[in-house]
Amino acid sequence: MGGILDKLIGYAESISDESIRKVTLGILTQPTLSFLDAKPIVGFLDSPAAPRKHHSFSGGLLLHTIGVVEASVRIREYVEMVYGLKADRDLVVAAALLHDIFKFYQYRPDEIEGGYKPREDWYLSHDYSIIGELARRGAPEKLIRVVAEVHGIQPFTTIEGLIVHLADSLDARLGDILQQTLQGKLRALDKEGCNPYKVMSEKARSDGPEKVFERAFSPVDVVVSEFKKYCGG
Ligand SMILES: [Fe+2]
Ligand SMILES: [Fe+2]
Repeated sequence: MGGILDKLIGYAESISDESIRKVTLGILTQPTLSFLDAKPIVGFLDSPAAPRKHHSFSGGLLLHTIGVVEASVRIREYVEMVYGLKADRDLVVAAALLHDIFKFYQYRPDEIEGGYKPREDWYLSHDYSIIGELARRGAPEKLIRVVAEVHGIQPFTTIEGLIVHLADSLDARLGDILQQTLQGKLRALDKEGCNPYKVMSEKARSDGPEKVFERAFSPVDVVVSEFKKYCGG
């Protein structure tokens, strides 16, 4: 899992504006909500990106985050190439890195169904908590503005907010389809009492979250034999 985290930190280090770089690196390396007493149950590195819909396995949040960063930097280039719209790379990279980071506070392990589920005692959605934490850490307002636009609740006022919003939708949709495709094939294991959510998490922990979808479009028997070894975990 260190592999993806190192990539995320590398992207944060590539931000040229010092105030944006510092706050982004600070949150990425110390992802704590400093204005709350509540503690997370699941760690940042273990968290899914969503408990059921997409990237629902251990490390799924890291995988979705690098997916959104990689898509955002490419969408930024395409938007300039095709539409002549110039977007600030620092803001795009920082907002992509930070947009979902406090999701791990929202979840707990699901002992019955396998995988993760929302915490019953949690009230602060990640799109609010990142804004609170950015403000608390003295982030520049231009960064707060872009991050606030990523989830698409307000009309867009920046091209950077729109770019990261599109990258987020793309990667969530991609993850959703890959997961449905993979789970369709893992149903064979489910019949043997081997939980598909559990095996995806076991594979992510042992080989890295970036390996989970590698065989999504391979034949069922290939997928089953690849995942069967994680049934015991
Ligand atoms: Fe989100
Ligand atoms: Fe996201």
